[in-house]
This record gives sequence, C-alpha cells and structure tokens, in this order.
Amino acid sequence: MSLLLGIYGAGGCGRGILPVASQQFGARPDSRLVFVDDGVRAIEINGHEVLSFEGFMAVPAEERRIALAIASPQQRQEVAERCLAAGASFFEVRAANAIVMDEVAIGEGALISPFVTFTSNIRIGRHFHANLYSSVEHDCVIGDYVTFAPGVRCNGNVHIADGAYLGAGALIRQGRPGHPLRIGAGAVVGMGAVVTRDVPAGATVVGNPARLMKG
Ligand SMILES: CC(C)(COP(=O)(O)OP(=O)(O)OC[C@H]1O[C@@H](n2cnc3c(N)ncnc32)[C@H](O)[C@@H]1OP(=O)(O)O)[C@@H](O)C(=O)NCCC(=O)NCCS
Repeated sequence: MSLLLGIYGAGGCGRGILPVASQQFGARPDSRLVFVDDGVRAIEINGHEVLSFEGFMAVPAEERRIALAIASPQQRQEVAERCLAAGASFFEVRAANAIVMDEVAIGEGALISPFVTFTSNIRIGRHFHANLYSSVEHDCVIGDYVTFAPGVRCNGNVHIADGAYLGAGALIRQGRPGHPLRIGAGAVVGMGAVVTRDVPAGATVVGNPARLMKG
C-alpha cells in the first residue's frame, strides 16, 4: 500500500516539521514524504521534493494525507478548508520525544514538535501547533487552529479559543477549577508575555504583566 504524505508549507514552520515527520514515517518503505507549496519555485528543498497542491493531488497513491505547517491560525484554517474541499485528508506529526500523559484528547492534524509536554486531562481541537519545548498543563481546553510558538508555557485550567496565536516564550497563569483563565478567539499573545488575566477575543497583548498592545 502506498502512502503519500505532504507537509503543506515549505517555510520555516514546514522545514522544522518535515524532519520530524520523516523520523515518524521513514521506516515505512511504502511512504513518500514531500513538501506541498504553491508559492515556491524550487523543485527540492533540503533534499525533499516540493509539489504544488494540484501536483500533490495528482500523484497516484493509495492513501494521501496532509499536515498543515502554516503558523498563522487564520491562514491554516483557510488552507484546511481548501484541502477538505478538494477531498484531501490530514495526518498528525508527533515527535518521538513528546510527552503525553493521561486523558489527553488532541484533534486531527496536530503538529507536535520535539520536547513538547502535555500533562493530564486536556482537550485540544483540530490542527493545533505545539512548537519546540512548549507545554500544556492539566485541565486545559484548547480550540481549533491554535498555535503555540516555541517555549510557550500554558499552566493548568486555561481555556484558549479557536484561532489564538501564542508567541515564543509566553507564560500563561493558571486558572482555577470552574474559573479558567480565558484567552479569546483570534487573540495574539506576544512573545515573552506573562498573561495574568483573561485576554479578549481578537486582542493583542504584550509584556509582563501582559497588557493590550497600543496602536
Ligand atoms: C506582538 C506582535 C504580534 C506584534 O507584532 P507587530 O504588530 O508587527 O508589532 P511591531 O513589531 O510593529 O511592534 C509594535 C511595538 O510593540 C513592541 N513589541 C512588539 N512585540 C512585543 C512583545 N512581544 N513584547 C513587548 N513589546 C513588543 C515593539 O517594540 C514596538 O514598540 P515601539 O512602537 O515602542 O517601537 C509580535 O511582535 C510578536 O510578539 N509576535 C510573536 C513572534 C513569535 O513568537 N514568533 C515565533 C516564530 S516561530
């Protein structure tokens, strides 16, 4: 049975994910792993073939799956919808050294980079990105298309709505059982922010303690 796997996006995010997928699936002699990117002229990047989306869909394969390596939650959602409309399906990339404890439910299409930790009793939606060294603590609920840049520390009882982006090294204070700390839909948490209060939907916060970004 032939398995064609595409890492959609040959930018920084994709180039950090393809080697993880290669480790995950490389032992399967029937699998072929490529970049999918419509904006790149190169036919090869880092020794891996680059196909357009149309080209990817046209390659004969018994099974064909895509992982979306696009950091922007909004762009990732747009591409996911385009892939679904074209009949593509998704796969999860998970580093071998990621730690996942008890009762963790992760939706389809997640990218889980090396050194990521999930403790217990966590629910996460579709197409989550957990970049290098990020962690999610107990009793968190995370929506669809959420991105954690490297080193995000999300403590317990935090609820993050769809499409939120958390920048590198952001630190999120724990909520309490029944009173989670909430980060709203489409919110952006700047790199290095220390979030101590709820973040409204669509807001950008920065700093320690995190405040709404001016301008
Ligand atoms: C918060 C963020 C989204 C703002 O981006 P932006 O709208 O393009 O903002 P600008 O770069 O124009 O900066 C606007 C002001 O905010 C300040 N600022 C930007 N990001 C900041 C941050 N994370 N913390 C504190 N201040 C920040 C800038 O210094 C600038 O201040 P000034 O007007 O006094 O010079 C962005 O800076 C950020 O933190 N992105 C996450 C980056 C990241 O984690 N990447 C990971 C890649 S894998």
